[in-house]
Parts: sequence; C-alpha cells; structure tokens
Amino acid sequence: MASLLVTGGAGFIGANFVRYRRTTHPAEAIVVLDALTYAGNRASLDGVECEFVHGDIADTALVERLLRERGINTIVHFAAESHVDRSIHGPDAFIENNVLGTHSLLKAARTVWLAGSGMPHRFHHVSTDEVYGSLGPGDPAFSETTPYAPNSPYSASKAASDHLVRAYHHTYGLQTTVTNCSNNYGPYQFPEKLIPLFLINALHGRPLPIYGDGLQVRDWLHVEDHCRGISAALDRGKPGETYNIGGGAELPNLTVIDTLCAAVDAAFAGDAALAERFPDAPAAKGIVTSTLKTTVADRPGHDRRYAIDERKARAELGYAPARTFEQGFAATLAWYLANEGWWRGVLDGSYRDWVATNYATR
Ligand code: NAD
Ligand code: DAU
Repeated sequence: MASLLVTGGAGFIGANFVRYRRTTHPAEAIVVLDALTYAGNRASLDGVECEFVHGDIADTALVERLLRERGINTIVHFAAESHVDRSIHGPDAFIENNVLGTHSLLKAARTVWLAGSGMPHRFHHVSTDEVYGSLGPGDPAFSETTPYAPNSPYSASKAASDHLVRAYHHTYGLQTTVTNCSNNYGPYQFPEKLIPLFLINALHGRPLPIYGDGLQVRDWLHVEDHCRGISAALDRGKPGETYNIGGGAELPNLTVIDTLCAAVDAAFAGDAALAERFPDAPAAKGIVTSTLKTTVADRPGHDRRYAIDERKARAELGYAPARTFEQGFAATLAWYLANEGWWRGVLDGSYRDWVATNYATR
C-alpha cells in the first residue's frame, strides 16, 4: 500500500488532492510537508485526517527523516511558488523553491529509496503546461513531445524542475512520473489567481483588472478533475513517463470574466441575503457586475494561448475531465459564497498587503 508524502499539501491543489485521495484511498497514510508560505493555509486541511509537518522541502535532513521514520514510499510533489505575476516581480523565490527545492527533494528520495538494493517507490512531480510556451491561434495543442519553451521566470523554474526529475530517472533509476496540467480553479484557491481574485473583487465592488485585450486563451481545469488525473498517474502511470492533464475547456479570459460577472448577478438575484452580506457589490445595488471590468497594462511576456492534448492520459491512465467549465464554475462560485470564513482568513493576512502594494503600481 502507498504511504504518501504530499509536499505543498496546504496549498490550493495540494489540499484538494489530500482531500480527494483520502476519500478514494482511505487506508493510505498521508503526511503533508508544507512551509506555509503566503499561499499555504493550514485551514485548507481542516477536518482532514493526515499528519501535518511544517517544514521546507529544501531541508534534506527533515525529508530523509520523514521518509525513513514514516515508511514513505510515494512522494507527490506540489510545493512551489506558483504565481506568474510574482515571478515577474521577484524571480529569486522561484529558483530557490522550485528548482533548488525540487533538487533537494530528489536528493533525499535518492538517498533513502535507492540505497542498498533499493525499495519500490514513486516520485510524482506536479508541473504545468506553461513549460511548453505560448501557442498561436491555429497551433496544435501541447502534447508530451512538444519542445519546452518557457517564457516567464515561473515557467522556466518549473521547466528546470521537470528536467531534474527526468535526469534523476534516467541517471539514477528513480521511479518518477510527471503531470503537466492547465489552469486549475476550484475551492481553496488563493485569491491572486484570475477566478478567485475576480470573484472576491466583484463581491466588494473593486475593479476587475483585465490584462491587455483579455483575449488570452487558457484551458480551464476543475481542481478535482486534476486530482483524479494525478491519482490515476500514481495508480496507473509508468515510471519515466509524463502525462498532460487538461480540462477540455479552452476559453478566452473575457469569456471567463463575462461568465463570472453574469453568475454573480444571478446569485444576487436569487438570494436576497447576499446583498446584506456584500453591500458594496454592484449586484447588491441592482447594477451589473460587468461594470467593474477595467483594462490595465498587459502582463510582461504574457503567453497568448495554452491548450492541452490529453490523448495519452486518456489512453494510458483512463483520465477524462468529469465537469464542463459551466458546472465547475457554478460549484466554485457556490463554494466561495459558502466559505467566506476561509477567504476572509486569507484576506486578513499577506494577501491584503500584496494587493495594496501591487495595485498601487499597476
Ligand atoms: P499554491 O501556491 O496554492 O501552493 C503552493 C504550496 O507550496 C503552499 O502551500 C506553500 O506553502 C508550499 N510551499 C512553497 N514552497 C515550499 C517549500 N520550499 N517547502 C514546502 N512547502 C512549500 O500552488 P498551487 O496552485 O496549489 O500549485 C501546486 C503545484 O501545481 C505547483 O507546483 C504548481 O506549479 C503546479 N501547477 C499549478 C497550476 C494552477 O493552475 N494552480 C497549474 C499547473 C501546475
Ligand atoms: O497553465 C497553468 C498555470 O496556470 C499554472 O502553472 C500557474 O501556477 C497558474 O497560476 C496559472 O497561470 P496563469 O498565469 O495562466 O494564471 P492566472 O490566474 O494568473 O491568469 C489567468 C489569465 O488571466 C492570464 O491570461 C492572465 C489573466 N489575468 C490574471 C490576473 C491575476 C488578468 O487578466 N488579470 C488578473 O488580475
């Protein structure tokens, strides 16, 4: 039976993964290792049965001790700096956590798992479609053989970590799998990424800052579908292989934003209590949310289009997204409205400071 170390398990996707895997594989032991950076929230794991260790993936002695003492045979590696805008303002943390941090983790896994005659194990690395660069309108979607062409410090750091994972498989025989996925959305996402940021801004009557012309295209993947894909890669993936995971929902940002605005308007129209809870929302005053849309300067080096060719994951892992974007988005809006305590807790801290400094300069 697998005994899991989940790095970054207090972050958005990590916490969703722990919750998902706990349900599908209830007998497995799960240890979460998380440094609780600005993006990590212990509250995202409230009520979930797992051991939580507050620590850094770069602490090799700690990781080796956890692998040995807890009998870990599977690492699911989420821990990273994950926001493109932050990587533009301050790339160093991305090199430290994503490149050096991943290398420390690989070294610890090699030391413990490959010593002597070795033991059955798996190192699963969670990566991104951004390593493949940017597509033109008619280009074929990213497949696992698309050459790497990262454009931001974030995607370059993830590309470097992917290469290190590949090298540890080929050179030392570490049993690795990698998944490269598209834009996730869903519960527990830190409100700096497009969907939660715009939702919470809409509830407070704050501008919705659209970068450039808003016609950049992303493939939107509900986080639970992503977690099923990772779980399938753990259970059925072949060591040394990579799998692309997508949501089958390629949409321009403006379409996502218009969907969000209309959904907020409909939610307020259907529930009078929302106007009392969020009196600053335009929807509380009978004004459409789309009036908050504001064009701002484009993100430097902004990738135009991402799209995922997920045929390999479908054929070899049996993966397919279970939700349409409309279904996933409706569930996400309902979750943020029902879990105000979670995002208020996040807003009380570093997010508020970050928004204050960044929106002043934009
Ligand atoms: P997140 O920013 O929400 O969470 C990252 C977590 O990692 C946080 O809990 C943080 O405290 C922790 N962490 C960071 N550095 C650490 C360190 N040195 N040691 C221990 N913990 C550390 O990120 P996310 O959106 O959940 O993304 C998780 C992974 O998935 C990342 O590797 C990211 O590159 C990848 N990914 C994300 C998306 C997306 O749409 N969010 C898409 C593709 C791939
Ligand atoms: O494709 C996978 C990647 O998706 C992950 O690897 C990253 O960790 C994750 O952050 C995400 O990257 P993006 O840069 O695509 O996500 P973000 O939510 O920051 O932006 C989505 C799109 O919306 C992008 O085209 C930029 C635009 N945007 C974003 C913000 C935050 C805006 O127009 N305004 C905004 O305020």
